[in-house]
Amino acid sequence: MKESRHNSSILAFQQKRGKDSVAFFLPFLGPDMTVLDIGCGPGTITAALASVVANVIGLDLEPKAIEAAKQLARGCERANLSFIEADMTALPFDSDTVDAVFFHAVLYHQSQEVLTRTLAEARRVLKPGGLLATRDADAGGNVLYPESQGLCTALDLWQRWYEHADPEAPRFGRRQASVLRAHGFVPIWSGASYVNHSEDAFARNETVADARRSLLGLGSELVTKGLAEDAEIQAALAAWDCWGSDPDSVYFRCRCECVARKTDQLDTSGRPGV
Ligand SMILES: C[S@@+](CC[C@H](N)C(=O)[O-])C[C@H]1O[C@@H](n2cnc3c(N)ncnc32)[C@H](O)[C@@H]1O
Repeated sequence: MKESRHNSSILAFQQKRGKDSVAFFLPFLGPDMTVLDIGCGPGTITAALASVVANVIGLDLEPKAIEAAKQLARGCERANLSFIEADMTALPFDSDTVDAVFFHAVLYHQSQEVLTRTLAEARRVLKPGGLLATRDADAGGNVLYPESQGLCTALDLWQRWYEHADPEAPRFGRRQASVLRAHGFVPIWSGASYVNHSEDAFARNETVADARRSLLGLGSELVTKGLAEDAEIQAALAAWDCWGSDPDSVYFRCRCECVARKTDQLDTSGRPGV
């Protein structure tokens, strides 16, 4: 039986992912803060932030994402949670007005130009000493079992896609602190955690569905650009289906995390409360 994407088990699954995604940032946040979740997508992470700060605003360029996020917000009935459609390279906020900004899975696939403009905007809207947190992928840290040839091909196809624009993109996660430092922030904490994409049959189904959407979405461009053969894409799709039906399969995706502060003083001891 096909399940609706809006049923309660999907909501519970997304809420847990949302909470896990912000966990590293929570010790740095306070109840009086205003936080921007930039590139918020469907808003599940934004909603998790709303339970710990005074005001949280999710922002995304995609109208459909904002529509989904607003629907989620109506279900949450949280007065301190709102969403706006906007471009992160031109934030519709006054300078020095925001306590913290959060980027989850947003910065790693941006061009250098967009990255620089986005971080400059984040820096502009942050109050002096304001916080910036990022959590992003690093292809070098993923754990997959069984490592079939088809799954290795699938990971390689994604790597080829991201590498063709920027050879360093697939390993963005480990470079976050250095990227932030180069854009006027002082990193104060770095870490990493895993997202378990195989905790049960439900999670495996979601993982396979995401992988299929992604491979089918990128497939024709990969072939057109000469980065892949159609047979490789078909092999990768079949391998994900096989992985999804194996009760012992695992996929732990590495997420690198960094918290940095907008400051002119290069004081790297600025842990929470310091
Ligand atoms: C991979 S999704 C991550 C969504 C969400 N942060 C999460 O982790 O669930 C990246 C998001 O960044 C948004 N995005 C990309 N470019 C943007 C821009 N210039 N301004 C605002 N949002 C942007 C996309 O629309 C997309 O929703």
